[in-house]
Amino acid sequence: MKKLSLPAHSPMQKKSFLYGVATASFQIEGGADSRLPCIWDTFCATPGKIADASNGLTACDHFNKWEEDINLIESIGVDAYRFSVSWPRVMTKDGNVNQDGVDFYIALLDRLNEKGIKPFVTLYHWDLPQYLEDQGGWLNRQTAYEFANYANLITQAFGNRVHSYATFNEPFCSAFLGYEIGVHAPGKASKEFGRKAAHHILLAHGLGMQVLQKNSPDTLNGIVLNFTPCYPVSQSDADLQATDLADQYTNQWYIKPLMHKAYPEIIDLLPAKQRPEIHEGDLEIIGQPMDYLGINFYTRLTYSAPTVEGEFFTEHEHLYPRTDIGWEIYPKALTDLLVRMNKLYNLPPIYITENGAAMADELIDGEVQDLDRLEYYDQHLNAVNNAIEAGVRVDGYFAWSLMDNFEWAEGYLKRFGLVYVDYDTQVRTLKQSGIAYKQMLAQRSE
Ligand code: FCB
Repeated sequence: MKKLSLPAHSPMQKKSFLYGVATASFQIEGGADSRLPCIWDTFCATPGKIADASNGLTACDHFNKWEEDINLIESIGVDAYRFSVSWPRVMTKDGNVNQDGVDFYIALLDRLNEKGIKPFVTLYHWDLPQYLEDQGGWLNRQTAYEFANYANLITQAFGNRVHSYATFNEPFCSAFLGYEIGVHAPGKASKEFGRKAAHHILLAHGLGMQVLQKNSPDTLNGIVLNFTPCYPVSQSDADLQATDLADQYTNQWYIKPLMHKAYPEIIDLLPAKQRPEIHEGDLEIIGQPMDYLGINFYTRLTYSAPTVEGEFFTEHEHLYPRTDIGWEIYPKALTDLLVRMNKLYNLPPIYITENGAAMADELIDGEVQDLDRLEYYDQHLNAVNNAIEAGVRVDGYFAWSLMDNFEWAEGYLKRFGLVYVDYDTQVRTLKQSGIAYKQMLAQRSE
């Protein structure tokens, strides 16, 4: 199979369904000497944290190659480009804008608009300025207000150049991976920290939504959440209950406050020390109306009853087949997720803001025959289509990622791009999956 194929009648074959590619600032930009340090610079400089001991100082050198990269995006024929703004590039330590940094993004936005590519801007994709981490980072409630100030100034500076804003990318990852188990920056690991960080991020999201409603009422404003659907290993009551608690802890924790202005019930089971400090009015701020919900999906996980005192569930290793990063390939979970979320909540229109696969690519004679990734995309596009057929409103889909990039704790070892990046020469090569994506987009009907 060398083509991506959807059923002929699928609304995803029409030009009204939006397709894009996605990236994030720290993962592609480089250009580190013209911005302030962020928590990922510090984390990368800490021995043992990044699999290949690499960092984001150069990455894909997008900071210098952005014009070539926009041409590449245009050549794929997408409707939209999702990228994030580096907070430490556009703000100074005293909370004012850094005009040079802002100008970089304004040039990028102007070029995208000239080419008719809709900019989907994420305000926070994990690169917290280090000076804010030095004051406690997301464990410090004040960081939420610093985010609101940044959002206020940057949206004013961008004016009407943006099509869509997301306040945050994947609060779960920032809070859980960064502050509860410490495998991501800033590398703090305590059960007491995870929920507190999550609450402050959600508060920052709510404050950010208020800013967006005021400064940018005409853009599509929302948030991007990641979901790893939870499945029981058996139908026993104990396994089903454990799976439900895992879902509450890892998934519902981040969406329920947005939609129902309440945390899931598992909050009452947590020891007092592990609960976030919720001030009066916080959930009202967090539950601001949104124009869309961004959903990132890669894999699922399976669960059974806990075997350790004080735990709520046992999480199992990924099943097979797996991608190169070790995540199970299970496309049906994407359909199940969309159908279930649509039942549980009164959702705004959904955009799949990330989906894709790491594969062990090889560049041979100027080509990357990534048929495994192509198949992953084929299965997952069809999984989205199945959800649409079941009545879920999905308005768009973004492939993760435009190009290979710095894959966080895995460094440059895991490749997620539609475009292959040779990090020695910074030469970009469209992979077979990218060619198939391009062909599918070109064949859409009115
Ligand atoms: C998501 C991140 C994104 C990328 C993919 C593979 O969790 O949002 O930056 O690393 O995973």
